[in-house]
Amino acid sequence: MFPKEWLSAKPIESFSTSVSAPANIAFIKYWGKKGPQLPANPSLSLTLSESRTLTEIDFKLQNKLSVELWFEGKRAESFEKKTLDYLISLSQSIPVLGQYHYKIQSQNTFPHSSGIASSASSQAALALCLSQLMARATHTGVDWNVASSLARLGSGSACRSLKGSFVVWGETSRVPGSSDEYGLDVTKLIHSSFHNAKDCILISSSKEKEVSSRAGHGQMKEHPFAQSRFVQARENFSQMWDGLLKGDWEKVGELMEVEALTLHALMMTSNPGYILLEPSSLEIIRLVRLFRKESGVPVYFTIDAGPNIHLIYPESAHAKVEPFVRHELIRFTENGNGVIWDQMGLGAK
Ligand code: PMV
Repeated sequence: MFPKEWLSAKPIESFSTSVSAPANIAFIKYWGKKGPQLPANPSLSLTLSESRTLTEIDFKLQNKLSVELWFEGKRAESFEKKTLDYLISLSQSIPVLGQYHYKIQSQNTFPHSSGIASSASSQAALALCLSQLMARATHTGVDWNVASSLARLGSGSACRSLKGSFVVWGETSRVPGSSDEYGLDVTKLIHSSFHNAKDCILISSSKEKEVSSRAGHGQMKEHPFAQSRFVQARENFSQMWDGLLKGDWEKVGELMEVEALTLHALMMTSNPGYILLEPSSLEIIRLVRLFRKESGVPVYFTIDAGPNIHLIYPESAHAKVEPFVRHELIRFTENGNGVIWDQMGLGAK
């Protein structure tokens, strides 16, 4: 899975790099996994532009592995432990990674653990920094598929935050080149009416979520609906793919909503079940559907593992969606001003 030069790479004394990686929002959800962080079904996401993690790493050669992690200016022990575990596990395949002190300084442009996939952007940023170190150590270039695989091992959905505006992760006969190992940039195949798609994120609550995605994926192992979910996800993927190729916003939008509500239905029907949505999330969903019906504006919602609602719509609808959000929806967000205006982005840099 890793380039063979990496396995026997010689360390370099010191190296510093910085990366900015975006969040992504899945239209077809990954929920349930197998083997080494491989997905139970293919997923597809839109890469965001403004919601990002900025990570700077100073690598210093030593004879053991240690991590010092600063998040938004403060030492962050829980992230530090998670990152240390991740690097220890990588160093079993890539020994040179076990010989550094990692000083990591990171910040988000959005509240972390609020259901905006902060683990995706942060793991993608970390993986690209590691790929740059390895590229330097082996006198090669950065291989984006390998960077995406590295990100995947930290957090599955992170593999969709490296390269491209629309990304497919998970092998499917519908998309040549798709893989369980890494995200594939499919932007060029997607109909131009989806290019520059907007994502208005309505923050219902920025509180840390009660059940982590890791625990949620774990519950899918025993979930009574797991097998039918994986069949449904493939069917939804296939139908949405047709819609994305043809420019059929209605089809894509309707399936996106089914996917979001299915994700939360799976959480509610897990054992033990849990609810991440807030009353305000439901009120926003109701108003979006009503607005769409009355105005004919193609605005659809999706939801990540959290209470926040993402409104997805074509750029051409922005002039109508913006006043709707300001007059009707913003009052249901946190402190009456929890809105992030985001849109399609290009990936990490
Ligand atoms: O990447 P993880 O392990 O944090 O899982 C997140 C999965 C969802 O965000 C809920 C769905 C998705 O496909 O992004």
